[in-house]
Amino acid sequence: MKTKKIGFIGGGNMANSLISGLIASGHSAQQIWVSDSDQEKLSSLATNMHINTSATNDALIAEVDVVVLAVKPQLIAAVIKNSKATFDKTNNLLVSIAAGINQESLSKWLGEDKAIVRCMPNTPALVQTGATGLHANQNVTDEQRDLAENIMRSVGISIWVENESELDAVTAVSGSGPAYFFLLMEAMEKAAVELGLTEHTAQLLIEQTALGAAKIALESSESPGELRARVTSPGGTTEQAIKTFDQGDLTGLVSKAIQAAHNRSIELAKELGES
Ligand SMILES: NC(=O)c1ccc[n+]([C@@H]2O[C@H](COP(=O)([O-])OP(=O)(O)OC[C@H]3O[C@@H](n4cnc5c(N)ncnc54)[C@H](OP(=O)(O)O)[C@@H]3O)[C@@H](O)[C@H]2O)c1
Repeated sequence: MKTKKIGFIGGGNMANSLISGLIASGHSAQQIWVSDSDQEKLSSLATNMHINTSATNDALIAEVDVVVLAVKPQLIAAVIKNSKATFDKTNNLLVSIAAGINQESLSKWLGEDKAIVRCMPNTPALVQTGATGLHANQNVTDEQRDLAENIMRSVGISIWVENESELDAVTAVSGSGPAYFFLLMEAMEKAAVELGLTEHTAQLLIEQTALGAAKIALESSESPGELRARVTSPGGTTEQAIKTFDQGDLTGLVSKAIQAAHNRSIELAKELGES
């Protein structure tokens, strides 16, 4: 893995995080390339991270073993089509992190014989705490699977899914998931302020509580249901709050919300694949 050359097309937020993660996990900056339409961004990446820059996407594709497509989803079709002739001269692995662009579209633009890993990361990757779902097409070798997994693991955890359709569920759960937790934090903060706490105090308490709850859940072998029961004493304060959530059918509402995100993920893939 450490000897493989990794190239990023698009040097924005996600590429920055992945490059930082790779370097922090021991990958040599000398083995990393980036190309971007913005020359200033390229110069700053070269200065700050000591990585290589390529003047064009074609030059990058010709140089590296794996190309990570890190441009906005609407630009993926054009970027691949513009460099198809160069891709055709290589056996590169293509890793796409673009939300909503499926394997069928990527193969249609790149070629049916190409090795493609499609990833669905989430925003916490920006703080090296991401959760990524990955799917490999039938052309990907075991070595290329390891390579893709290692790249994504540099910014958090990585989980392979066998059927690509599961990535729509990953999108609805962990892709959009950070926003669900922010919504709950926002609602808790509003309630805390109504009870007389300052915004600052409420925010600090809620952020630390979210972190603590996530840490306990991660470190414990018990399910979230068991953990909740453990902190819900009969006749206590928590029980009153949980009863209120149940009366409003919070569980049913979360199920409906995640189903709606799942449906939208399927629709978006159709829209983005039409190019
Ligand atoms: N950010 C996240 O948390 C997150 C989470 C999950 C998935 N993703 C996926 O990650 C991908 C990148 O997202 P991002 O947030 O990193 O986007 P971003 O910050 O906008 O970065 C994309 C970069 O690509 C550059 N670019 C545009 N056209 C190009 C071209 N033809 N050739 C080379 N570079 C080009 C852009 O330059 P300009 O700014 O000059 O256009 C920009 O620097 C997206 O597909 C997104 O769906 C992101």
